[in-house]
Amino acid sequence: MLVFGGTGDLALHKLLPALYHLHRDGRLPADMRILAAARNRLGRGEYCLLAERHCRAQVAASDFEHATWRSFAERLDYFAMDLTQSADFGRLRRKLAGDAPRARIYYLATAPDLVAAISAHLAIAGLAGGNTRIVVEKPIGHSLDSAREVNDALGKVFSEAQVFRIDHFLGKETVQNLMALRFANALFEPVWRAGHIDHVQISVNETLGVENRGLYYEQSGAMRDMLQNHLLQLLCLVAMEAPVRFDAEAVRNEKVKILQALKPITGLDVQDKTVRGQYSAGSIGGQAVPAYYFEKHVDNDSDTETFVAVQAEIDNWRWAGVPFYLRTGKRMAQKRSEIVIQFKPVPHRLFESGQPNCLIIRLQPEERISLQLTGKSPGKGMRLTPIELDLNLAEVAPQSRRWDADERLLLDVIEGDSTLFMRRDEVEAAWSWIDPIIKGWQESYQSPRPYPAGSDGPEQAQALLELQGRAWLD
Ligand code: BG6
Repeated sequence: MLVFGGTGDLALHKLLPALYHLHRDGRLPADMRILAAARNRLGRGEYCLLAERHCRAQVAASDFEHATWRSFAERLDYFAMDLTQSADFGRLRRKLAGDAPRARIYYLATAPDLVAAISAHLAIAGLAGGNTRIVVEKPIGHSLDSAREVNDALGKVFSEAQVFRIDHFLGKETVQNLMALRFANALFEPVWRAGHIDHVQISVNETLGVENRGLYYEQSGAMRDMLQNHLLQLLCLVAMEAPVRFDAEAVRNEKVKILQALKPITGLDVQDKTVRGQYSAGSIGGQAVPAYYFEKHVDNDSDTETFVAVQAEIDNWRWAGVPFYLRTGKRMAQKRSEIVIQFKPVPHRLFESGQPNCLIIRLQPEERISLQLTGKSPGKGMRLTPIELDLNLAEVAPQSRRWDADERLLLDVIEGDSTLFMRRDEVEAAWSWIDPIIKGWQESYQSPRPYPAGSDGPEQAQALLELQGRAWLD
């Protein structure tokens, strides 16, 4: 595996710790080697020290053993190169020339605008053929046109089967459990449709701000950073039909149909069905935090949204008329990611009280699935009370270490399984739906609605549901 951008945050904070864990669990192929490449002039020893320092900080103290690290470090190597220089790829080829024939994975942990250039350089240096795979991170472009350009550039060099577009949400345990829940149980299927479901909420709320990613975030905002990929992928898994097989093509065929069935939000609907917000100063866990426009690398008069809520609809037989409310924000009151399936009330009410059923699939902070039912209060009379069937996924297998999403996905790349990776047409279908919303915002000249850091987002996002007699489940 070649990690381009080997000294960057992604490689040091995420990839190497994930690879270390896989190595420790005996999951990596015995002869697998990892070559980090970046511009810094480091020797192999210096890189290993840098990697060790970061892995120590990232993995649990109980998981970091010196002997295990030493055996992991034997797999590591470093190559100083400029990723924009064709000649350096020639040097890289010469370095790899003595290597035994083996599968080669190029992991692009680099700035997104280098994707096209790196794949072209790999092709020119004769490093792209045969048994190779390329892993690219989101964002793939920042609009439909730019995503097409990136995909075209990849497509000139690699076949679609060789391209692994990562969305780390798909590696989360609960997200995969959602597929198991839907397609391995007969119970939910008959009610998983418009006739029985009132609406769906998908929320990914973070307490973190933009940290030191202001430069990137100013170009992206919550819509491009989170909704275009993570939230739409979750929506696909909730809404898709059962695939004919559990393999990459069949699963992705069903997901793309959902993206193509999303009802376009254009013109005046953009104002009615979407809310964008930006955090102002506030406090999180008792600690004062600054407004977004005071963050590092952010313009003082920035118009970038750090919150977005959208009412989506899927125009197909199963979901016509069911709103899917999507919401994501930074500096929210609580870190919480969850999918709420709100069922309709019983058709005929026998009792005075009682709430409609609700299925909550929580991804973060803990992984749990709970089904809210109504039961009877003990004692005389038919007084009803909410009861909850609660499945804490960490308690189901208490002994086993919880895998990180990146570990699962890395292993899939190594095994060549692209089921949990985004196909070109998915990415482009998602942009086709997102582009008109962003255009509508630009044309309205309306700034994002402010919300205090540590709150539940702008009040307009509450109103989006309240006007329809509904509320976010906070
Ligand atoms: C990333 C976004 O893709 O996902 C970040 O770029 C966001 O802005 C992160 O913080 C959230 O991921 P997780 O796994 O921490 O919920």
